[in-house]
Amino acid sequence: VLEEKDAVETVRCPHAASRAHSLDAIPGPTKWPLVGSMFELHRKGGLNRQHEALVDYHKQYGKIFRMKLAFFDSVNIGSPCLLESLYRKEGKYPQRLEIKPWTAYRDLRDEAYGLLLLEGKDWQRVRSVFQQKLMKPTEVVKLDHKINEVLMDFMGRIGKINVNGRIKDLYFELNKWSFETICLVLYDNRFGLLKKEVNEEAMNFITAVKTMMSTFGMMMVTPVKLHKSLNTKRWQVHTEAWDCIFSTAKVYIDRRLKNNSARAPDDLIGDILHQSNLSKKELYAAITELQIGGVETTANAMLWAIFNLSRNPGAQRKLFEEIREVVAPDQDPCGEHIKNMPYLKACLKESMRLSPSVPFTSRTMDKDTVLGDYAIPKGTIVMINSHAMGTNEEYFEEGKRFKPERWLRENNNIHPFAHIPFGIGKRMCIGRRLAELQLQLAMCWLVREYEIVATDNEPLNVIHSGVLVPERELPVAFIKR
Ligand code: HEM
Repeated sequence: VLEEKDAVETVRCPHAASRAHSLDAIPGPTKWPLVGSMFELHRKGGLNRQHEALVDYHKQYGKIFRMKLAFFDSVNIGSPCLLESLYRKEGKYPQRLEIKPWTAYRDLRDEAYGLLLLEGKDWQRVRSVFQQKLMKPTEVVKLDHKINEVLMDFMGRIGKINVNGRIKDLYFELNKWSFETICLVLYDNRFGLLKKEVNEEAMNFITAVKTMMSTFGMMMVTPVKLHKSLNTKRWQVHTEAWDCIFSTAKVYIDRRLKNNSARAPDDLIGDILHQSNLSKKELYAAITELQIGGVETTANAMLWAIFNLSRNPGAQRKLFEEIREVVAPDQDPCGEHIKNMPYLKACLKESMRLSPSVPFTSRTMDKDTVLGDYAIPKGTIVMINSHAMGTNEEYFEEGKRFKPERWLRENNNIHPFAHIPFGIGKRMCIGRRLAELQLQLAMCWLVREYEIVATDNEPLNVIHSGVLVPERELPVAFIKR
């Protein structure tokens, strides 16, 4: 994996403990028998507000704390230095924590695991197949016209459904856009979701992804086996959502496998489907997970970018100027233009810092590791709280403000491990390059045609529902320029 962060010298993280303390010495909220600190978390707003609770805990206990939520025991880190230390000790096959509700479903239905769930050599084998295509900037940039094809339809749709600038259920419209894009990339097929009469199967898929994402959290902290054996409502809904996701994806993949005609240069997945050594079952799981990864997160990041631009008209004006300077009025923005648009890239980066879609990721230690002052035994789950780092004034001056300029200053003094919206190291998001290009182009199209204005300036509460979502409809309007 090409690691940007690899080149950075370890200068900002001085000390290593002379004698590391044990896991039990790590501070953290009270661990009551059985429930751990569930009640305390409940008082802080429950799982829906866990991202805020984590920020509070870091303020209270420092850069590292330990937390037990019922059966879920974890060490939490919220500092770039500790993250850098973790990264430098990364093994060959880094592990994320097992998402037990997901693996339980796969085992139940005898489906394979994809990149989100695989571990060890199997993970590396599948990863390397997709990595070659999806993480290579020169490959991904070829997708710009596919991305634009969908964006053109999206803009048309926004023009039609816009009532006095307001777009009803903007998030769902963005979900349809991201679904349509990832499907065009994965299956080379359009699904017509941005048309007036939409394909019901594809709509059900989007709803199923949302349901699946919002039902697994509780089954991470209470044993999924129990949910399964009691056949709880949550387990039933979760299983039905996965059934819908798999059955839909399989239809699309099968159609694609049947069609082995000459492939275009921008056909990223065609070669993988037809030439890799992956079994059909492995392809089903891997592609389905790419599709899941691509729908919700990208739409969510776009939603937050729209929100942040609406509340920061000065930044939006500067962005509009940059777009006008780089892209001629009769041209579509493309991958080449983006290379000359530093302010656009900075706006996206800043939006993902201030309003990340994914507030944390995790690693399961595959060996005994010293982190800061503590010896972390093999098997421990380490939560990497990227949201807590992104909102910490120690790492980002005026951290509550949207300031894209902070990324453009030379010697900006931002710790290179303080901003990791796509995760880190060998297990970093494999869709990162695709998502970035998609978001950058979408911002170009939108801001070029519309001024995005805030319709109120009230606070917007954020809820954790697999990804971080706004609690209410986004207070924005699109005014034609
Ligand atoms: C993993 C974020 C878009 C597919 C991840 C991780 C994060 C993340 C934080 C965990 C990385 C780690 O543990 O270090 C995002 C965000 C996105 C996005 C914020 C959009 C703005 C996508 C897209 C795809 C995708 C478009 C599919 C093309 C995946 C997959 C993994 C992953 C398969 C697991 C990779 C592995 O373990 O090898 N993503 N993602 N993501 N993402 Fe994304």
